[in-house]
Amino acid sequence: MRIVSGIQPTGNLHLGNYLGAIRNWVAMQEAMGPGDDCLFFLADLHAISEHQEPIAFARGIREMAAALIACGIDPERAILFRQRDVAAHVQLQWLLNGTARVGWLDRMTQFKSKSGKNREGSSVALYTYPVLQAADVLLYQATHVPVGEDQKQHLELARDIAAKFNTDTGTDLFTLPEPIIPPGAARVMSLRDGSAKMSKSDPSDMSRINLIDDADTIAQKLRKARTDPEPLPDDPALLDARPEAKNLVSIYAALAGETNAQVLQRFAGQGFGAFKPALADLAVARLAPIAARLTELVRDTAELDRLLARGAERARAIAAPTLAKAYQALGL
Ligand code: TYM
Repeated sequence: MRIVSGIQPTGNLHLGNYLGAIRNWVAMQEAMGPGDDCLFFLADLHAISEHQEPIAFARGIREMAAALIACGIDPERAILFRQRDVAAHVQLQWLLNGTARVGWLDRMTQFKSKSGKNREGSSVALYTYPVLQAADVLLYQATHVPVGEDQKQHLELARDIAAKFNTDTGTDLFTLPEPIIPPGAARVMSLRDGSAKMSKSDPSDMSRINLIDDADTIAQKLRKARTDPEPLPDDPALLDARPEAKNLVSIYAALAGETNAQVLQRFAGQGFGAFKPALADLAVARLAPIAARLTELVRDTAELDRLLARGAERARAIAAPTLAKAYQALGL
């Protein structure tokens, strides 16, 4: 198995990233056998598809590296690196720009939602972003890509690009990667709006729980989370019409390692006045050790830089043969 995934190093790591993806990164790293590789990277080149304030951006990249290590990514076992340190990502993206079709990119929902009514004013990078994402995984012959539900479409595009490149060049150069999406917490929603995903780009910090939030902040955000006045039902199907209630129950279930039905067995008939404090206690118990470790790690910037440089060296070695074969397949 070759496991590859990335995260944009902007803003804080939040509960959606953790439950939707990072927890799975750690689980896959732990399940790694001999001959398997895990490559995890900070998608700093993806991040510049939107404006970044340079000083905060540089700090954010180190903080995200520290956050991943605090969550359990072991930079000895896994290969942890910054995307910009492996130039082959960008080189392969250009080659794949010859394969990807405009019609395919036009269908990408993330571009539509991020560009909104301002398509003409969006960066070209925001539009071609999924081609770089395809290069990120195809470059390493990824077999499995652990992501949240929102990245599924980008992964399907990577498969389409790989298949067309192989057909067009008469090779079987690229492996078609499988997305690994957690069944329970595939899409953690905003605490303010049950129809929007929890996101670091939401202007309201009250919409998300950051892994570095302290116990009081977590309790306050959950207390103020939007809900409805009804008590919790005993049947999980009845949550479908109540997105905010469903989100909080799903978060509880993911943190507790239970199903929604098991959570409802315990809380059916109770209102949010009782459920929210129980959820806050559970979230604090799970996140506080991560926050403590993160605060420690982020102090040693020289060590973080050393780890990332070493990770990039290992990643470059794995990437080189595939990039060379891609040039060759195109007659370059
Ligand atoms: P990013 O940085 O937005 O998010 C990182 C990971 O967290 C997941 N995620 C969520 N999961 C559940 N609920 C949510 N509310 C939520 N918000 C985020 C994302 O699905 C993702 O797995 N384009 C990617 C980064 C990327 C990448 C790649 C990923 C670049 N190249 C190659 C995989 C493979 C992104 O912006 O993720």
